[in-house]
Formats: sequence, structure tokens, C-alpha cells
Amino acid sequence: MPLVTTKEMLKKAQAERYAVGAFNANNLEYVQAIIEAAEEEKAPVILQASQGAIKYAGLKMVVAMVKAAAEDATVPVALHLDHGTDYKQNVKCLAAGFTSLMFDGSSLPFEENVAITKKIVEMAHAAGIPVEAELGKVATAGHVTEEEIKALMTDPEEAKRFVEETGVDSLAVAVGSVHKMTTQAARLDVERIERIRELTGVPLVLHGASGVTDEGYRTGIAAGICKINIATELNKAFTRGIREALEKKPDEIDPRRIVGVGRDYMKEAVKAKMRLFGCSGKA
Ligand code: G3H
Ligand code: ZN
Repeated sequence: MPLVTTKEMLKKAQAERYAVGAFNANNLEYVQAIIEAAEEEKAPVILQASQGAIKYAGLKMVVAMVKAAAEDATVPVALHLDHGTDYKQNVKCLAAGFTSLMFDGSSLPFEENVAITKKIVEMAHAAGIPVEAELGKVATAGHVTEEEIKALMTDPEEAKRFVEETGVDSLAVAVGSVHKMTTQAARLDVERIERIRELTGVPLVLHGASGVTDEGYRTGIAAGICKINIATELNKAFTRGIREALEKKPDEIDPRRIVGVGRDYMKEAVKAKMRLFGCSGKA
């Protein structure tokens, strides 16, 4: 089917208390693994491209690959911009065919984050496309201490003001998770998630979710998380498959027999996350 937006997808997840998996795609094998997993799990799915992925694969190529795969799929697929850092990037992705946008102004002062988010929301809504924004800051592993993670967390009262002033459709919250963690060891501040949900009412987004425990997914979703972002776990599965294939057959020279194993491993990783997020069978 044609690409859908994340608007209805996340509203349904919010009403039925599960989370839609949002998986970062960097090349053809990611797109195939994620959509095949969604088909097999009968799950709605969000494929997202970061600015780095767009630079790597090319904007037109990202849209063409995801559109082609979605058209052959029987489950709803959305294409989302992950961590767009400026207005222009959002416009470019909207024009290219993305069905969901993100502005990440988490490094900016509150008022500046509000002003740019609001401008992007007005522009995107005119085209019927929803926008995610970030308040507080989800840090990156290796660069932060526990105290810093705490200090960067989303303030619930500020979140209320932010959502009211910007009209944003969903909110990425800093609640204890950290980007690029390679083990599941982050602890979520579940009470904070609940408070933000009560005050804002919008679907909440969990970034840095590769490092969150399975129990964290469960309690986070119960508290108000409706979209869960996974990138690192897919990278790990993909490269593990490639390494194992090369170790098994060091003389193999057909890349499909090497990269294809990575794709299979990645698909299994996506399916496992979908089951934990409760979105399996929700398409
Ligand atoms: O925006 C992407 C996600 O937040 C990725 O998080 O590094 O834990 O997979 P991750
Ligand atoms: Zn993120």
C-alpha cells in the first residue's frame, strides 16, 4: 500500500497502549529486513532515516526504496525523518515524499526550540504531515555521566508549554535512555513519562531504545510511550551476521551471501522488538 503518515498510527497505538517500532534504515538490506519483519509480524512500522543515512544513501534513493517496499507490503508503512536539525532539512524531506518529520531542537534554548518547531509544524500541517520534536535531550553513550543524563531530562511542565505553543504531533522525551548503547542497561524514569503524558496528551517517543531493558519497554509503554526508536540494535545484528558469514566462509566473494546473512539477523532482531513493543498483529 502507499506510504501512510504516523498520525493515525500513533493515535491507534496510544488508544490501544502499545508502541510502534521506528527502525533506522541505512541501505537496501535494512529496508528489506524491516519491512519483511513487519509483514511477518503483521505490524504497522515506521522506517526512519537520519541525516547521516540520507547523506549515505541519497535522499531520492531513500524515498524510492522505502516507497517501493511499502507498495508491495500489506502492512502500513511510514517514512520518518529522524533528528532533523533544521527547517530546510524538514522542507526537503517533505518535498521528497517523507510522511512524517522531526525537528530536534534539543540543543537550543527553550524559546528557540519552540519558535523553529512551530514554524515546521505550520509548514508540515499545511501538507497534512505530522511532526515530532524533542524537548530535554537524549544524550549519546560515551559522552555523559549519570548526573548529566538526569540534568538533561524533559521537564513535564515545560513539555506542557512546548506542546501547547508548537502544536507538535508527538514528543521525544529524555527519560533515562541514551543513544548508541550496546547493552540493555538504561533505567527509565517511568513517573516522569506518566506526568508528561498527563500534562501533554500527545503520543510520546522513546529514543535511544536499544539500551532500554525489556521491562523498561513494558513500563514505558504503560506510562505513555507510543513510538520506540531502534538503530544500534539493528547495526549490531547486521554486522554480527556479516562477521559470522565471513568467519564461516573466508573465501566467499559473493557479497549477497555475506550481507544477506546480516539482513536475516536484522530481520529477526526487528521481529523480536515488535513482539516486545506489542505492535505485532496490530496492522
Ligand atoms: O533516533 C534514533 C534512536 O533514538 C536510536 O537509538 O541508538 O538506542 O538504537 P539507539
Ligand atoms: Zn534518537
